Amino acid sequence: MATMDQAVGTGVSFALTDEQKALRELAREFALNEIRPKAAAYDEASTHPVDVIAKAHEVGLMNLHVPEELGGLGLSAFDGMLVGEEVNWGCSGIGTAICANGLGAGPVILAGTEEQQATWLPPLLEEPILCSFGLSEPDAGSDVARMKTTAVRRGDEYVLNGSKTFITNAGYASWTVVFAKTDPAAGHRGISAFVVPMDAPGVTIEKHLDKMGQRSTDTSAFALTDVVVPASNRLGDEGDGFKIAMRTLDFTRPGTAAGAVGVAQAAYELAVEYAKERVTFDVPIAMHQGVNFMIADMATQIEAARLLVWQSAWLHDLGKRATLQSSFAKLFAADTVMKVTTDAVQVFGGYGYIKEYPVEKLMRDAKLFQIYEGTSQIQRLVIAKEIFLPRD
Ligand code: CAA
Repeated sequence: MATMDQAVGTGVSFALTDEQKALRELAREFALNEIRPKAAAYDEASTHPVDVIAKAHEVGLMNLHVPEELGGLGLSAFDGMLVGEEVNWGCSGIGTAICANGLGAGPVILAGTEEQQATWLPPLLEEPILCSFGLSEPDAGSDVARMKTTAVRRGDEYVLNGSKTFITNAGYASWTVVFAKTDPAAGHRGISAFVVPMDAPGVTIEKHLDKMGQRSTDTSAFALTDVVVPASNRLGDEGDGFKIAMRTLDFTRPGTAAGAVGVAQAAYELAVEYAKERVTFDVPIAMHQGVNFMIADMATQIEAARLLVWQSAWLHDLGKRATLQSSFAKLFAADTVMKVTTDAVQVFGGYGYIKEYPVEKLMRDAKLFQIYEGTSQIQRLVIAKEIFLPRD
């Protein structure tokens, strides 16, 4: 297992470069000034934050990993993770909407040819258009290999049929990487990946899903009915799709885990402030051990989660396969944000349960981190496989 003591240079360093500090500052300012003021209204309405996305695009907080050769910033997993924490500190509904192009474009960046990258990535830089990651299906979420969507070769084209659901930003995406079976008898080895323009005939957005939390991120279901795409839209070879999806998730899980840390940090800050102000039995509740121990645990868990996130992103940037560390980070950060936000509601007492106070939203938002990009149970499964059936 690769460990932190393999740090570049003379030893372990937690220091950010000046560029990274500036990037984090930019994201924090954006979260404070552009995201937070609109978070409650978008949450209430469950509508897509078009204006905030446009501004995030304008200031350079989207599409961070598009290579420099294509005009992008070519930022590292670590840089993306720094932005992920801050924008989700602002609001994880809006934050996820902003960051999800990383997941959508991930397969093209990881597995696309130069020509495919030049076709699909530069338009993301030119205007605030969205892309999405079409993996999950009504009967195949955690168990990816059970997917039923098919892609049948017909000369220089493929014809796709099937349904996808729980797809972030799909209702507003210009294109989606759709995973489909090209050889239904071959299990995970029969899955291939295709870039599908969402305005192609036969693509139908079926519904916007009305979620408990992260309500300002669009999550949609869509159907593919005899959708024709050129064979040149296939990423990798036939049968590569499963591994392309897994490698993409290895890359994006640290960023998602960072988002969980951002939400936990927001809840912790609110709980600390409230504990200093709220008086019971003649003292601020922060003076009661029942409260300050909860807050001490929050701070400890957030710090531990952040370190796991930093480690997993750092390993990616060293070019190492970080499947295990990505799942450590995603699992721990997701479970941490659920615990921290639940305890923040507890610190606020009855007020915490009321929509007028911000921690109620944070607790609803937190739950999704234990579900999307692989449930907490799937992260444990990945970790157990890495321990008992290690791959090179
Ligand atoms: N990198 C490269 N290869 C990998 C890999 C990885 N991280 N993980 C597995 N593989 C390879 C294995 O080595 C194996 O290769 P061979 O064919 O050469 O033997 C092959 O892939 C199959 O691996 P497994 O036997 O481990 O596969 P499995 O069927 O048991 O499933 C799983 C593994 C981890 C459970 C996987 O199905 C999984 O990750 N499920 C969760 C999916 C998920 O996260 N979905 C969320 C979608 S994104 C989202 O949330 C939507 C959104 O828009 C927010």
